[in-house]
Formats: sequence, C-alpha cells, structure tokens
Amino acid sequence: MNTIRWLNKHWLQLTVHVGALAPLTLLIWDFTQDNLTFNPIQEITLRTGKVALILLVMTLACTPLHTVLGWKRILSLRKPLGLYAFLYASLHFLVFVGLDYTFDPVLIGQAIIEKRYVLLGLAALLLLTPLAITSTRGWMRRLGKNWKRLHRLVYLAGILAVLHYVWLVKSDIREPFVYGAGLAVLLILRLPPVRRAVSRLHHRRAAMHTPQPKQLCASSNVVPCRLSTKLRMMRRRPPCTRR
Ligand code: HEM
Repeated sequence: MNTIRWLNKHWLQLTVHVGALAPLTLLIWDFTQDNLTFNPIQEITLRTGKVALILLVMTLACTPLHTVLGWKRILSLRKPLGLYAFLYASLHFLVFVGLDYTFDPVLIGQAIIEKRYVLLGLAALLLLTPLAITSTRGWMRRLGKNWKRLHRLVYLAGILAVLHYVWLVKSDIREPFVYGAGLAVLLILRLPPVRRAVSRLHHRRAAMHTPQPKQLCASSNVVPCRLSTKLRMMRRRPPCTRR
C-alpha cells in the first residue's frame, strides 16, 4: 500500500531518473560488448553530446509546459533534468580531453584551433557548471534573488549548445535545425508578454470548464449555495447559554 502511494507521488521523478540513466547504461553495455562502431571514442562523444542536448532542451521546456498546461508537478523536473544534462555534457567533455587527446594540453590546443566549434561547447559547459553547483536549497537561500538571475544563464547555455551542434555538422543541418527551432519556440514562450497571454488563455479555458456555483446548485438538489454557506456558519456558532 505504501509502495503504491509512493509510486503515485513520485512516478514522474522516477521516469526522469530511469529515462536519463538509460542512455548511460546502454553506452556502458555497448562498450563492454564491443558494440561501439569502429571508432568507439567518436561514438561515445556523439552519444553523450546528443543526450546532453536533449536533456538541456527538456529542462528548458518545463516552465513553458507549466505555463501552457498549468501542470505544476512538471516544475520539479527542472533540477534533475538540468543536472543530468550537466552530467552528460561533462562526460562528453571528459571523453574529448581524456580519451581522445589524453589530457595533453598541446594536442587539445591544436584540436581547438582545428575544430573551433569546440569553443562553443566549452562555453556552454562553463555556463552550466555554476548552475549545477548552486542547484542545492542551501545555495538557493544564500543567493536569494540572484539565484534566479544566475540560473537564467541556462538559456544562453542552450543557445550555445545548439550553435555548437550546427557548426560541427558539415552537410545535413536538419537535425540541429530541429533542436534550434524547438529551443526558439521555448524561448519565445518565456518572453513575459507571451507568457502572460498564454497563462491568461489557460485560466480562461480552466474557468470555462469549472462549474459555476449557480450551475452546481441548479443541477443538484442541494440548498442554494449562499444559503447553504449561511447555514453552515450558523451551525458553527456556539450554542446560546441561558443564565
Ligand atoms: C552543454 C555542452 C555541450 C553539448 C550540449 C554538446 C552537444 C553536442 C552534440 C549534440 C554533438 C553532435 C552529436 C551528434 O552528431 O550525434 C556534439 C559533438 C561534439 N562535441 Fe559537443 N557538446 C557540448 C560541449 C562540448 C565540449 C565542452 C566539447 C569539448 C571540449 C565538445 C566537443 C565535441 C566534439 C569534438 C564533437 C564532435 C564529435 C565528432 O564529430 O567526432 N562538446 N556535441
């Protein structure tokens, strides 16, 4: 019974954890099975980069989805999704500098000169680092209003990550374009006037589907609402005591 109650409360979080850890599990499995193409390092770089980007876009989608659907629970997913995006981006970076270039600063410097798009990825990762560090409740309290300001950097990190992807793709830019378009829609939905208009629309729609007090009274056999409220209040009054 307790397990069912727990699952009912946490199923969304659980789905995020399982979904975010699945690509890593699959990657480790494919690595142990020697199933990572003829260039495993490149395959790991590509897979971790792709998952990092998907999770970053999902993080940015939480608030607009809350505005449009009015689903409050979705807001609690921002932190785990953001942290998983950071985890995959860090792995992506470590594979590049560690496995690909054996932590050799000269080789890494040469690679950056050759592949300039790496700089945009690096900038995105650098922006995500303070956000991951300050994602705890303690940091939230310590930074106060500045916490929200600092965490706005996630938009910039998203834009840089998409540009990094667009730049590195040589011919077919359809896939990076899909991420770019998705990100653009999410950013537009966050603009204060757009956000206000969407949430007004949402409230109006919600009000239309909520039965009005009069309708409730008419459709059921109960006493009219105002009268029933008065009766309830009268019942709550302490009984008169005679001296
Ligand atoms: C938030 C940070 C980052 C994100 C979201 C990201 C995302 C991506 C994506 C989506 C790809 C293409 C995957 C594919 O084609 O399937 C990619 C490729 C790549 N990224 Fe990143 N990246 C990030 C940071 C970095 C950093 C810090 C570095 C290196 C210092 C880096 C180096 C590379 C390289 C070298 C490739 C190309 C691999 C190849 O074609 O062989 N990225 N990244």
